[in-house]
Amino acid sequence: MKVLKEYTLLLIILLIHIITFSFCPSVESCNAVDEEALLEFKRILSPYIGNLTYLKVLGIYNDEGDNDAGDEGLSGSIPPELGNLSNLTYLNLYDNSLEGPLPSSLGNLHKLQHLILRNNYLSGVIPCNIFRSFKSLLTLDLQYNRFIGPLPSSIANLVSLTDLDLTGNYFSGEIPVGIGKLKNLTRLNLLYNQFNGSIPKSIFQLPRVEFVDLSYNNLNAPLPEFVVTGTGIKGRLPEWLSSCLGIKDLDLSSNQISGTLPSWIGNFSSLRFDVSRNLLSGSIPPHNASIPASAFSHNPGLCAPPLPPYAEVVWCQEEPMNMGAYSYIAPRLCTAMKSVNRGTADDIKYVGRLPSAATATGFISVHSKEQTELVQKALQPEPIPFP
Ligand SMILES: *[C@@H]1O[C@H](CO)[C@@H](O)[C@H](O)[C@H]1NC(C)=O
Ligand SMILES: *[C@@H]1O[C@H](CO)[C@@H](O)[C@H](O)[C@H]1NC(C)=O
Ligand SMILES: *[C@@H]1O[C@H](CO)[C@@H](O)[C@H](O)[C@H]1NC(C)=O
Ligand SMILES: *[C@@H]1O[C@H](CO)[C@@H](O)[C@H](O)[C@H]1NC(C)=O
Ligand SMILES: *[C@@H]1O[C@H](CO)[C@@H](O)[C@H](O)[C@H]1NC(C)=O
Ligand SMILES: *[C@@H]1O[C@H](CO)[C@@H](O)[C@H](O)[C@H]1NC(C)=O
Ligand SMILES: *[C@@H]1O[C@H](CO)[C@@H](O)[C@H](O)[C@H]1NC(C)=O
Repeated sequence: MKVLKEYTLLLIILLIHIITFSFCPSVESCNAVDEEALLEFKRILSPYIGNLTYLKVLGIYNDEGDNDAGDEGLSGSIPPELGNLSNLTYLNLYDNSLEGPLPSSLGNLHKLQHLILRNNYLSGVIPCNIFRSFKSLLTLDLQYNRFIGPLPSSIANLVSLTDLDLTGNYFSGEIPVGIGKLKNLTRLNLLYNQFNGSIPKSIFQLPRVEFVDLSYNNLNAPLPEFVVTGTGIKGRLPEWLSSCLGIKDLDLSSNQISGTLPSWIGNFSSLRFDVSRNLLSGSIPPHNASIPASAFSHNPGLCAPPLPPYAEVVWCQEEPMNMGAYSYIAPRLCTAMKSVNRGTADDIKYVGRLPSAATATGFISVHSKEQTELVQKALQPEPIPFP
């Protein structure tokens, strides 16, 4: 039972969890054949598993995240008989050492909602009609296997799909345009593959899409100004992005995007929006205040957004007016104001202590009260009368 310590065997049969092999559930189907099938789980997925037709949930995966040497979990291939478990809604074989192809018989699991085969050594092409009856599938997670060849266009049949993750395989050819029919898709991860050709524009117009990562492929842009390469994105931001304002996570940082930021950038309210570390220039258009300044940093030619037309320019300091940096900075601020057509020295408001012989009051309580008043005054909504 050493294997069980590291691996969670989760078989929910009529809500009964089988915890050890020495315990046989009191369901009528538990017979010698089933026991045989269960005992085989230690090493491989036996074809006998095809006898457990009442199974709804099958999860044999490494629960602990670290697959120590010496315990590789299940090995061997996925038996085609698994496709006989027609009541299966959840199949999770995450983090084992399964190899060989995906049997096309899995296409019979028409009630399946979650298919998670992440972190195995599965290989070969995806059988072209395997997706034809997966009408209930919500999650398809084939991350980090060795699948090759094209993604079958029958993927367009997965109408319920919300999460598609094929990260880290050797898929090639074009991304099927039919992905654009998966109206409930929210997460699409196709990174680290060998997809080529163009990015179907429809992907970004999916009504619920929140996260798309297509990096590290060999894709060309549908528009000449947008090129995704293995090392990064080059060129200008494509106009069609402006119609994808629903994207919750638009991370284009650390690429080679050049040109100016189009004004529609200001319409993004992504929870995560990042164009830092690119080659952008020009000014930052007015944008949602919840986007931090760091999202624009490390672009050599990018300037701060223009000040709103009625913004007040305030110099606030703790020290009295005749001390601190005010007298040094005032003429420079004045020059800057003139050069951007924002008036003269009179248009720079000063908030700080009045001229005095000492830098601060001697009493800490008085000092902090004054400090608070200064900050409040600098941020007051009413115009500042001084000077
Ligand atoms: C169980 O599965 C095996 C292999 O698929 C098959 O030969 C056998 O007939 C099955 N037994 C029953 C009782 O269904
Ligand atoms: C699937 O489940 C239904 C009811 O839950 C049951 O009647 C049917 O026999 C099951 N199918 C198989 C192949 O066990
Ligand atoms: C079980 O699966 C095997 C392999 O896919 C298939 O040949 C067999 O007909 C299936 N049995 C049933 C009862 O569906
Ligand atoms: C898409 O999601 C909505 C809400 O979650 C659900 O009502 C609808 O049935 C789903 N569509 C499909 C085709 O599964
Ligand atoms: C994509 O790669 C396939 C081979 O994997 C090739 O036949 C096809 O011409 C390529 N398409 C483009 C647009 O480069
Ligand atoms: C940005 O949003 C404003 C207000 O909703 C709208 O008038 C404007 O057309 C949008 N700009 C773009 C480029 O979508
Ligand atoms: C700014 O973004 C937040 C959250 O992303 C959103 O709730 C808010 O409506 C946005 N404001 C504007 C003016 O777009």
